[in-house]
Amino acid sequence: MENKRVLGLSTRLLLFIIPIIAGSLLVSGILTGLYAERGVKKAMSRLTVYKAEDLTRHVSSQWNLLLENELQDDMAYLESLKRSISSYSITMLREDGEWILAVDEDLNIIFSVGASVADELLRESVLNNRPINSEDIWIDGKFGGKERFGYGFNLPALGWTVYITNLRRSFFDDLSYIRLNYTIMVILTAIISSLFILLYVRRSMRPLKTVINDMQGIVLNRDFGKRVSPVQNDEVGELARKFNLMSDYLERAMNRLIHIAHSQAEARIEIRNRERETLDVLSRVSDHKDPETARHTSRVGMYASVLSELRGDSLEEADLMRWAVPLHDIGKVGIPDVILLKEKGLTAKERAVMETHVSIGYEVLKDSASSILRAGADIALSHHEKWNGSGYPGGLKGKDIPVRGRITGLVDVFDALATARPYKKAWNFERSVEWIQERSGIDFDPEIVELFLNGKERMRTIYIEYGDDSSESVRESALS
Ligand SMILES: [Fe+2]
Ligand SMILES: [Fe+2]
Repeated sequence: MENKRVLGLSTRLLLFIIPIIAGSLLVSGILTGLYAERGVKKAMSRLTVYKAEDLTRHVSSQWNLLLENELQDDMAYLESLKRSISSYSITMLREDGEWILAVDEDLNIIFSVGASVADELLRESVLNNRPINSEDIWIDGKFGGKERFGYGFNLPALGWTVYITNLRRSFFDDLSYIRLNYTIMVILTAIISSLFILLYVRRSMRPLKTVINDMQGIVLNRDFGKRVSPVQNDEVGELARKFNLMSDYLERAMNRLIHIAHSQAEARIEIRNRERETLDVLSRVSDHKDPETARHTSRVGMYASVLSELRGDSLEEADLMRWAVPLHDIGKVGIPDVILLKEKGLTAKERAVMETHVSIGYEVLKDSASSILRAGADIALSHHEKWNGSGYPGGLKGKDIPVRGRITGLVDVFDALATARPYKKAWNFERSVEWIQERSGIDFDPEIVELFLNGKERMRTIYIEYGDDSSESVRESALS
């Protein structure tokens, strides 16, 4: 199953933690902003109401004074009252932007202290903010062309409406400044905490990376004797220790497997040696009754093995030829001695009996479980076939003859020629080779003859080293 690719640990951590930090900062920022705004508004209202009450008190005392002296209809006193209220209002101003305005019922300006604006704009603002049914009114928005906060109230004795306002920004500027600072702080906190998280994760990942690298080295090099060093005593260390336990187990299992493989290899060699020994015994059984010598069977195996090698066969095939070819005449155990040991002059009937050694050999070996013995069966059956089709038992021609049979046929004849038999003398090495060459394309496969000639010196070595008789005569014959 293919593992789904996921984001790295640090990215996942950032994606998880940053929204939490930023979110909580934002929520607390918004709440703080709301409370601060409420506080500012409250202070602003109290201050404005206080000024309104103060002005009302002043107007009342002045008006009561006129009433007490019955001067309320005297225009000069009224004018003086107006000036006094205006002067008092000026003393109430504390900063630029504050504005106290009084209008009569017809919206004529009685006095305006502080900010001054165009009449039209003012008229419109006042119309939009008239206390209705003598109810005071709060102003929070455009007034006189600017964002203002303030209070509008009636002075019933004089029939005036007074507006005490201030620029909104003079109250809220600081709050905006706090908001801006807070936003910057949130962004900076997010960036700085991201960096810290990244650094922390990198630092925390370092031991894990070391452990992973060690593990990779061990797995790639199959070096289970090596151990991961647990850098620290935490989960990563625990992982390293667990991996080491697994390596211990693998190392033991590997050693056991190696031991088993060695034992098996030894057992195979043992079996192979015994098989060779058995084959050797078997070959010697066939030699026992045969005028051919024990060394003949062995030599033909060697010649055949060299030819197989020269053909470019595998090492296994060359080895198989070494051990299977000596069995070529094993069928002779089934031939009566009178025929087998007759030195010459076999009758046609006797010859026919003699020729059955190939099929007897085949029958004896063909059903064996051993590949060498089964190859021996094919070799036994085909080693008397000839290239031109004049051989037996099948009269097979050319490449219809199995190649193992073609090779065996050649080396068998060569060795028979080159060694002495009770009924004939040995030809010397060169003469025997010449005969093989002469019979190329008649008895033997021309390609194998050519290989034989190419490998002549290797054949000569076998001929000398494993000759029937290590006497000088054999060596001389070989060297002549
Ligand atoms: Fe034979
Ligand atoms: Fe033979």
